[in-house]
Amino acid sequence: MAQRKNPCVLLCVTGCIAAYKSCEIVRLLQKEGMRVKVLMTEHAARFVGPTTFRALTHEKVAIDLFDDPEDPIHHISLAQEADVVLIAPATANIIAKMAQGIADDLMSTTLLATKAPVVVAPAMNNGMWTASATQENMETLRRRGVRVVGPGTGYLACGDVAEGRLTDLSEIVEATVSSLDPDVVSGPLSGSSILVTAGPTHEPIDPVRFIGNRSSGKMGIELARAARNAGARVTLVLGPCDIIPPAGVKTVHVETAHEMLEASLDAFARCTHAICAAAVADYTPSRPANHKLKKTLEPLDVLELKETVDILAELSRVKGDRRVIGFAAETDEVCDYAMRKLERKGCDAIVANDVSRADSGFGRDTNKAWWVTSSGIEEFPLLTKKALAERIVSKL
Ligand code: PMT
Repeated sequence: MAQRKNPCVLLCVTGCIAAYKSCEIVRLLQKEGMRVKVLMTEHAARFVGPTTFRALTHEKVAIDLFDDPEDPIHHISLAQEADVVLIAPATANIIAKMAQGIADDLMSTTLLATKAPVVVAPAMNNGMWTASATQENMETLRRRGVRVVGPGTGYLACGDVAEGRLTDLSEIVEATVSSLDPDVVSGPLSGSSILVTAGPTHEPIDPVRFIGNRSSGKMGIELARAARNAGARVTLVLGPCDIIPPAGVKTVHVETAHEMLEASLDAFARCTHAICAAAVADYTPSRPANHKLKKTLEPLDVLELKETVDILAELSRVKGDRRVIGFAAETDEVCDYAMRKLERKGCDAIVANDVSRADSGFGRDTNKAWWVTSSGIEEFPLLTKKALAERIVSKL
């Protein structure tokens, strides 16, 4: 599969105790397929050394306006190279400079010169944040189209518990990735829109109990990430799980098989492909109680179940010439059962995975799978779910 060009994030780190969190931001952005370049102020370099960022990014770290002898107009090349600029943490000082158009060091000149989308994640003492000057500057930046994330409320370095701390890092990464111009993330699936279902479903017995399964959501989430990296617009319909969905992917959170069906049909109306990796409950309680069932008064002798709608079969029924890929979780005769599912459900291909192995299937980081179509079976080696997801997406 031809790889998309890795978009470049220019991460601007300013002088604030939260600067140490920028190291983790680098890692999270790289995980999302971004190339990260770091630009620091001299004050930021007092909190975290440039060597740390150089080691994390494998790129030169820019600090001084005149520090790159090979690049005489460093602030312009940095400004032009960035596909998106993230300032995290952003101090009151850099926010004020941006609002006023002050350009007196490498960071402020670069920010004035760039045409890339800009995301600002402020972090400062609550008094500085709530000061009228800062609030008016923020208003100016918002009006100019700068995207602002946070600040969050919590424990601040000065000891106060108040608004001013750097917001949740996943929120910052999400805002950065989703600010990218779609043309920058062009790849082999540019122009496609893909629905991915992932995770388990929870079928309520009463308000506190449910029928569920051991799906962690990892496989489907890696598929969503791989499809996004290939340039597709992705809608992820995700059952209950603890994993943070990839940035730049539209995620619809659902609980039950019925909610997953509704969300999937709705999204598929706007999609060119669907991949159903979710472990959907085949049965759901017919009459879930609306109060907690009492152990002694209402013994649960028989739990009456009804069949759920098969989402994969339903999408295949309405697909026309769009492509629908299913999964088959099997413990024995894996490919035989998968072939039968392919015929019964009417999809274009099935990824058959062996869920009896200790290194494959539910909750694992690796998966042993086969690509099953009406024209034959292709065996994949044991792969990480990330690598398997990339192989599956390359088939599209
Ligand atoms: O989430 P992980 O921990 O990473 O684990 C990944 C996985 C093992 C869950 C995944 O790789 C997988 O195999 N997903 C399908 C699990 C499953 O329910 O398989 P199945 O053989 O019961 O269903 C066959 C296909 O029908 C699947 O595409 C399933 O999404 C779909 N289906 C099933 C029932 C239903 N009501 N609606 C459906 O769409």
